[in-house]
Amino acid sequence: MNDYNFDPKVRTVWWEDDGDGRAVVHMLDQSLLPQQVVYLHLTHEQQVAEAIAQLRVRGAPVIGVTAGFGMALAVTRFLAERDADRLETTPAEIEAHLAQVGQLLGQTRPTAVNLFWAIERMQRSTRQACQAGLSSQQLAEVLKAEAHQIAVEDVQACWQMGLHGAELIADGDTILTHCNAGALATTGIGTALAPVYMAAHTGKHVHVFVDETRPVLQGARLTAWELQQEGVPLTLITDNMAGYFMRQKRIQAIFVGADRIAANGDVANKIGTYSVAVLAHVHQIPLYVVAPCSTIDLALLSGEQIPIEQRKAEEVTTLYGTRIAPMDVAVANPAFDVTPHAYVTAIVTEKGIMRAPYTETLRARCMPSRQN
Ligand code: MRU
Repeated sequence: MNDYNFDPKVRTVWWEDDGDGRAVVHMLDQSLLPQQVVYLHLTHEQQVAEAIAQLRVRGAPVIGVTAGFGMALAVTRFLAERDADRLETTPAEIEAHLAQVGQLLGQTRPTAVNLFWAIERMQRSTRQACQAGLSSQQLAEVLKAEAHQIAVEDVQACWQMGLHGAELIADGDTILTHCNAGALATTGIGTALAPVYMAAHTGKHVHVFVDETRPVLQGARLTAWELQQEGVPLTLITDNMAGYFMRQKRIQAIFVGADRIAANGDVANKIGTYSVAVLAHVHQIPLYVVAPCSTIDLALLSGEQIPIEQRKAEEVTTLYGTRIAPMDVAVANPAFDVTPHAYVTAIVTEKGIMRAPYTETLRARCMPSRQN
């Protein structure tokens, strides 16, 4: 099974050097899917920050990868501009510039910890390169390599999560998933969908029930599209149908991703995950959270400490630009909720399948990766 190989059909974000000291970050614009498949070509860190904030790229792992590329892009661009003005640039000036870029990117989305993990990792590389006395050009190369390494590790982690998680899927199972935690949310084969792909590509018959995931419809727009591309059979349902199908015993397991997991195993994921988890608990259906160790925030003791992103009212009051709610109505739009660890059957990471007590298992298995 380890030898089995397949590439996702979607490509979310990647880096290109133009050979002239400039770089481009290419990105699939997920906000337009599935109606339009459009790629963005970003040359400025401000554009990268906007793309993350506007959900053009979304999903915790790929947000982290994008932040890494954004910081490498910022340095490359900064050096090219200074060179054009015939100005010398010291590594300390690059470090100061990157501190600002880190702030810019860090303000885009507060919940997915992969964003902050990647920013910190890039800043740590910068500090180490400065301490080692590298030149500015060498520092830029180090940061480019580090950003690529984050992407490579993401691809590998997805693969490992797929291998581990596939053990939890039996031939003939129907899986429910919420939001999009597939290839579109990573640079690899996804997190929650990785076990599904691995199971399907190794001969198991798997069917996926896809929650549409109001209000931004990541399920209907992205997961349904992605599963179609990969040839995995699916049924799209609205969020409020999940309990109906669980009661009918049509669902054998729930697989979801995560944006941040606290040390005790509480899981922040797309709004609605908590409702699915409670329903799964009542119906005694296992709920598996699949996420890389970079999504685990051991600094937070419980999910109550996870910052929850509040998004704009228009996401709720309009559908594709058409107003569906009365004017001036009060709206709440938290983008994520927290599922208490008691409802989480297991957490699947690239290091294996972890079960309660999460305070012990997560720290024991994921600690080395968080120190990267
Ligand atoms: O607002 P989004 O689309 O970025 O939310 C994404 C999710 O909630 C995903 O389930 C989570 O990031 C895991 S992705 C592998």
